[in-house]
Amino acid sequence: MTTTYSAPGKIYLFGEHAVVYGKRAVASAINLRTVATVRESNQTRITSSLGTTGIDYMVHPYISRCIESLSVPEVSVMIDSDIPVGSGLGSSAAAVIATLGALNSEFGLGMTRAEIAEVGHAIEREVQGAASPTDTFVSTMGGTIMITPGGLSPVSAKLRLIDCDIVIGDTREFSSTKELVGNVGVLHERYPTVMNPVFDIIDSFAEVGVPLIENGDYRGVGELMNINHGLLDSIGVGSAKLSALVYAARDAGAWGAKITGAGGGGCIVALADEAAADSVVQAIADSGGHAIATSASEEGVAAR
Ligand code: MEV
Repeated sequence: MTTTYSAPGKIYLFGEHAVVYGKRAVASAINLRTVATVRESNQTRITSSLGTTGIDYMVHPYISRCIESLSVPEVSVMIDSDIPVGSGLGSSAAAVIATLGALNSEFGLGMTRAEIAEVGHAIEREVQGAASPTDTFVSTMGGTIMITPGGLSPVSAKLRLIDCDIVIGDTREFSSTKELVGNVGVLHERYPTVMNPVFDIIDSFAEVGVPLIENGDYRGVGELMNINHGLLDSIGVGSAKLSALVYAARDAGAWGAKITGAGGGGCIVALADEAAADSVVQAIADSGGHAIATSASEEGVAAR
């Protein structure tokens, strides 16, 4: 039998990095998905844009860990994705969750969605070192979600789905989440008195921002995203390219724009109304970024 599942990537409206320290984050699934097709086989094979391997922790660490952690029989897994890798859009989480969904169904493992999210989070932690549950949780559940990490399973609140245009600007520079989380960790260890208040302010975006999201006040959400961008820059995860795309999007009429994900390279996200979205796409392209116009998605991991 062949089983195919897909799972979405995500953007952060607020809270990346601080969420690793237990602070609240708000993220949304988007209409860019990763598809995993699995089939019981006489030999374990993993195929993706990176090539074909067996269990291989250098080339396919996440998928290798999915197969080993579920202790399934020999299997072939094929990954096909619209989500740029290492871009801050949750490509690894989407691949993990789509693969776990497909393996769960192919081998009748009976895992619930909450269990898939939990196993997915454990896999990200094992491969990456520190990882919050955000990417794997949002990819499993879909929608726009406020997440409070902590304990075995995160506390989450499903919010009104963001229903404005979302424009992503990709610097096309690879960003290593592990490395960036590590760099922030060094600053936190060196200057806890400085870094903890920054994380507390980032936490407050959830409190102030959630009612704005619920009211569809994207102008307000955008203003908070702009402040969040400044704080991400302040903790060393910005770059001249990321800021160029952020300012290009804002100057073209976006309500707000910020780094999304780990930063360093990777992507920015801008919110815009329909009238401004094309100009934002153009401005990002003119500034040397790869622009992707997308929207939020209510659909989490699903058979396909
Ligand atoms: C990466 O997409 C987001 C970070 O907050 C890391 C994490 O939450 O695991 C930087």
